[in-house]
Amino acid sequence: KKEAIGKSHAKIILIGEHSVVYGHPAIAFPIDSIPMTVTISTITNGIRINSEFYKGSLKEAPVNLLGIKRLIEAVCKKLATGPVNIQINFTSEIPSERGMGSSAAVSIALIKSLYNYFEAPLTKQEMFELSTIEETITHGNPSGIDTATVSSEAPVWFIHKQAPGPIKMNLDGYLIIADSGIRGQTDVAVNSVRQMVNQDQNARAAIGNLGQLTTETKATLEKNDLNHLGTLLNHAQQQLDYLGINIPRTEHLIQVANRSGSLGSKLTGSGLGGCIIALADNHASALKIANALENAGAVNTWIETL
Ligand code: PMV
Repeated sequence: KKEAIGKSHAKIILIGEHSVVYGHPAIAFPIDSIPMTVTISTITNGIRINSEFYKGSLKEAPVNLLGIKRLIEAVCKKLATGPVNIQINFTSEIPSERGMGSSAAVSIALIKSLYNYFEAPLTKQEMFELSTIEETITHGNPSGIDTATVSSEAPVWFIHKQAPGPIKMNLDGYLIIADSGIRGQTDVAVNSVRQMVNQDQNARAAIGNLGQLTTETKATLEKNDLNHLGTLLNHAQQQLDYLGINIPRTEHLIQVANRSGSLGSKLTGSGLGGCIIALADNHASALKIANALENAGAVNTWIETL
């Protein structure tokens, strides 16, 4: 009886969501304090799934697991030499559909666990190609930033269709992440921004501004200038707001963060719900902001050191 394990973690986008779809860069951080683990053990009766959402045979899995199903089938076809009899257990602390990369994290942890189980070497290239199977079914045509970041241990500089690059960080600060509790649908948000971009030249300008702000953010992360980073995040939020993906609940949380001492606050991820991020220069201030956000209705908050 064999056992195998695969791990990944959550991610947040610091800046550059949506504009990354149009070829601009984005910066994303791995959040390894919010893990995703997949374990596999040998059983006798086919492939079975054991997750919070579904327990049962892979054959009868519901349609929202189609991406995972196709991914498992693809890996088994590639690596298995005979019938596959395994139970796949998913343990996740990543809330789903909040822009924290839960679906990409599932794919990456799943691919790693299956390759471990079949004792096959896994290249980065193979991992990205395989994760595209799931992400394309779940998200349509994603830029790939989620996959790159949930499989990275370090901050990621990401440009669509390019290998992710490193980011130099020379900052002492805290990032507060707050979950609005509202599910954001990446494909809906990306399509609604695309419609605006097609019709409105100010929306095209907003996308360009986000690209520039992202490049400036990269330079700011190398200096210890938290105040300027906060200003850049606020400016990015104005652009995202113009693009129509900031709903009243996230706007409220952003205002609460700013009133509670945040140096800068914005949406993170595709918007229309999901999470916001806020910046603090010390731990006491980060705690104060996180408490205020929870009192204002955030269903969960996390404090990360930069
Ligand atoms: O999955 P989310 O909510 O983190 O959003 C992904 C970021 C977008 O730029 C909105 C879409 C993409 O594919 O890059």
